[in-house]
Amino acid sequence: MSPTSFLFTFESGPDLPTPRPGQFVNVAVADDLTLRRPFSVAGIPAPGRFDLLVEMRGKGTRALAEKPVGSAVDVMGPLGNEFTLPDAGGVSLLVAGGIGGAGLRLLAQELRRGYHRIHALVGARSSEGLLNHVFPAPTGDGEVLLEVATDDGSTGFHGMVTALAEGVLDEPDAPSRVYCCGPPAMIAAIADITAKRNVPCEALLEEMMACGVGACRGCVVATRSGYKSVCSDGPVFDTRELVLEELVRA
Ligand SMILES: Cc1cc2nc3c(=O)[nH]c(=O)nc-3n(C[C@H](O)[C@H](O)[C@H](O)COP(=O)(O)OP(=O)(O)OC[C@H]3O[C@@H](n4cnc5c(N)ncnc54)[C@H](O)[C@@H]3O)c2cc1C
Ligand code: FES
Repeated sequence: MSPTSFLFTFESGPDLPTPRPGQFVNVAVADDLTLRRPFSVAGIPAPGRFDLLVEMRGKGTRALAEKPVGSAVDVMGPLGNEFTLPDAGGVSLLVAGGIGGAGLRLLAQELRRGYHRIHALVGARSSEGLLNHVFPAPTGDGEVLLEVATDDGSTGFHGMVTALAEGVLDEPDAPSRVYCCGPPAMIAAIADITAKRNVPCEALLEEMMACGVGACRGCVVATRSGYKSVCSDGPVFDTRELVLEELVRA
């Protein structure tokens, strides 16, 4: 998918409930790593199969990438809540920073299945890390729009993806809801931009995790109604609920 990220397809068999957009799986990546690693379900290519789009970060993701094709992998899931799908009509704005595109890929596929219009914005530091191809290809009739931004200007808009989002939300026919996934600072900026324009927004948070099922409180995030576990209360949150100063500080 990019020089540092890989798309894996897993065969789950008929017993795994079909994952919903926003849900994740917790993967036992290697025998010598006790903690499982969480990854968003990034696609359902066929019944009984699911995709993960994984960026190489450390030991766990490398161990996963090194497994031979056909390996048996212990996976828990699908876990967590899901994105709220829009009512018919209107445009949904999807904002992805870096590997955040993985968390929005299944959502984009589901929105297109329901014939919803989408406008996707994808940002990265440079063209090497861009994951624009995780979204459906743009269509000539405006049903699917795609714009990219790079911090170094190597492709697309030169600047932050949040600046692109601000411009899109100020257009006359602006999207009626926003979904985002990416670094905490990006999510905080999108939360602020959407709150000022009174546009509903949901964010998928990629907090560090341990148990993945709400037992250890190792993944809490500050919300206006107290601390919530990202793994079991989330990972999808209405951004108006999040305490943004704490999100960025974490
Ligand atoms: C709900 C959820 C969904 C996620 N979906 C995806 C996905 O679809 N694709 C993907 O590539 N990654 C995703 N992540 C992040 C992924 O879990 C981490 O990148 C992975 O666990 C790192 O494991 P590692 O052993 O390779 O890295 P480690 O050796 O454990 O850490 C290497 C580096 O990665 C950072 N890191 C570790 N865990 C996380 C984390 N949870 N979030 C952000 N940074 C982390 C560490 O701070 C460190 O700098 C998701 C996380 C959550 C909580
Ligand atoms: S990871 Fe244990 S409560 Fe979320």
